[in-house]
Formats: sequence, structure tokens, C-alpha cells
Amino acid sequence: MEKTIEQIHQEALNELEAASEAEAVQALSVGYLGRKGAVTQFLRNISKLPPEQRPAAGKQANKTKKALEKIFEDALNRLKTKDTVTGDRIDVSLPGRTLLAGSVHPITQITKLMCDIFTNLGFDIVEGPEVESDYYNFEALNIPKNHPARDMQDTFYISDNIVLRTHTSPVQIRTMEKQTPPVRIIAPGKVYRCDSDLTHTPMFHQVEGLLVDENVSFGDLKGTITTFVHRMFDDRISLRFRPSFFPFTEPSAEVDILCVICRGKGCRVCSQTGWIEVIGAGMVHPALFENVGYASRFTGFAFGMGVERIAMLKYGIDDIRKYFDNDLRFLRQF
Ligand code: FA5
Repeated sequence: MEKTIEQIHQEALNELEAASEAEAVQALSVGYLGRKGAVTQFLRNISKLPPEQRPAAGKQANKTKKALEKIFEDALNRLKTKDTVTGDRIDVSLPGRTLLAGSVHPITQITKLMCDIFTNLGFDIVEGPEVESDYYNFEALNIPKNHPARDMQDTFYISDNIVLRTHTSPVQIRTMEKQTPPVRIIAPGKVYRCDSDLTHTPMFHQVEGLLVDENVSFGDLKGTITTFVHRMFDDRISLRFRPSFFPFTEPSAEVDILCVICRGKGCRVCSQTGWIEVIGAGMVHPALFENVGYASRFTGFAFGMGVERIAMLKYGIDDIRKYFDNDLRFLRQF
């Protein structure tokens, strides 16, 4: 053998001292520890030594190998960190990576806008539970068991008597049970129905409205909704009140807004009618007042608005499901 392992070790240390770049250290590492490296060759040649010298030489060579591995690795790490901060090849003046900031979901934005419009009209905001009893979701709203109107809403049942609320109208009853007239509230929140197409999602948002006092008329309801729609969109938007039926209001109406996608010509979003239904409304049915113990001199109106539908019309969105796909390309536009 030409060189002792101690000599190889020392030479490696000397050369490492002169290496000032990561590439040079890498080359040294290969030169000493690689397949044809000096330390590797030494280890291979141990078998040629007299048997009595082999254990000590092997032990010493492995010790050197481990020591050099550690020294080269440390030197590489040191030089890489140095390159990042001050080296020639990395331009530290380049702008950093932008942190992606979240933003408020369009449905939350529209809900807030709706709440602002109604609070400016003197309405208070209240909330109710999303997991609701059959009594508040149906019975107290004049929809007894086996009433055909239960078919209008495809209900998710938790148990026989507990449902995911199908509308925000239960908040009407919960509020009237606690508060005597005058009552003037809105109740925004999530509701659930087994329903899905271009204008229906299984979870959507409604804003319920309830106003009870003496001498409240259908004219007050019309005025309130028309004011809301004009403030939400603009004064030129076309809306219409269409006679309808809800067990908890009498008379009842639905409010449609001219389809912004086709401007009333008829398209797949408005099912070729030219109009999109956004609000259910009416005068509070006397049976509800009886259920909560209100005197018969009171009258009131109530309404329930679909937030996603209003957002579709506000932003010209042709498929309600886009709000819940979580596609950032869609969401970043708001
Ligand atoms: C109701 O839910 C009544 N509770 C509204 C009401 C309140 C009437 C107070 C009278 C007095 P309706 O099922 O029509 O009504 O729903 C109201 C609005 O919710 C609809 O006009 C529509 O804008 C929206 N909507 C209904 N189903 C869906 C759905 N699956 N996805 C998205 N929006 C929906």
C-alpha cells in the first residue's frame, strides 16, 4: 500500500481547507469517498494486507470514512447557506413569494349587504338553530304532520322529530315566543334541502324577515321588498309579485326578478320564463299568532329570500353550484 489511511485523512483535510465553493467540496467528497475514491480503494485493499494487520487497518479506515463523511457534509451545508445569502448565483434582491391572502366569500358579502339594507330600514338581526325540531320547522308554522305542503321541501331528517331546517321561517316562531309586538327582525342563515340543479343546492342561505305591529298591510310588505330590491340592484330592475301559497302566510306571494342572464328572453337558468324566483312572502297567517299567543289586533308580514339566487342575479352567475365548488379562479373575481 502506498499511503497510510492517516496520510489520506490529512490530505483530505488540507484540500478541504482550500475549497471555498460547494462544487469543490462535492468533488472532494467523490474523490475520497466515491466508488473509486481514495478511502474506498484503501478499504478494498485491506484484504491484501497480512491477516494480523487487517482488523486494525479496517477499524482505522472506517473511522476515517465516517469522519470525512461528516466533515464534507458540514462544509457543504455551510457553503449552501452562504450561497443563499451572499453568493453570486442567487439574486437576493428578487421579490419574495407573495403570500396568498383569503377573501370574504361572495355569499357572505351579499348576506352582509342584505343585512345592511334591512338594518338601515330599522330591522334587528336575530339567529336560530340549523338543527331544528319538527315543531318549529313545520307544526308551529301551520304545517301539521301529513300536510301536503311538507312535500314542497325535501327535508333531511335527523330523527322522527329533528330535522335540518328547510327554511329560516322557524326563527319567526322563536322570535315571537320571546318578544311582544312591535317586532321587526331579519334572520340570515343556512338551510338544507335535498335538491340540486342550476338554481338549487342542498345547502343554501336565506334571509328571513318578520314585521308585526298594529295596522301592518300587504302594501307595507310590497313597499319593503321593493325598497330592498332597488337598493340591492338599482331602481330600474324589473320585479314582479306573483300570487303563491305558503301555509304560514295568507295571502302569499312570490317575488321574481327579471333574469339578468337573458334579460327576460328566456334561457336555461330561468327555465325559459325570463324570471328568477328569489323571495317567498306574505301576511303572517293568524294560526301562527295563535300558536305564540299574540292578540288578534296584530297583523304582520314575513318574507324569505334566497341569498344565492340574489347573488346570481347581482353578479350574473349562470349556475348556483359555482358558489360551492371552491374553484379559486371563480372566487378570486369577487
Ligand atoms: C320558503 O322557504 C319560505 N319559508 C319563504 C317564506 C318566508 C314565505 C316567510 C313566506 C313568508 P321557498 O321554498 O320558496 O320559500 O324558498 C324561498 C327562496 O329560497 C326561494 O325564492 C329561492 O330564492 C330560495 N331557494 C329555495 N330553494 C332553494 C335551493 N334549493 N337552492 C337555492 N335557493 C333556494
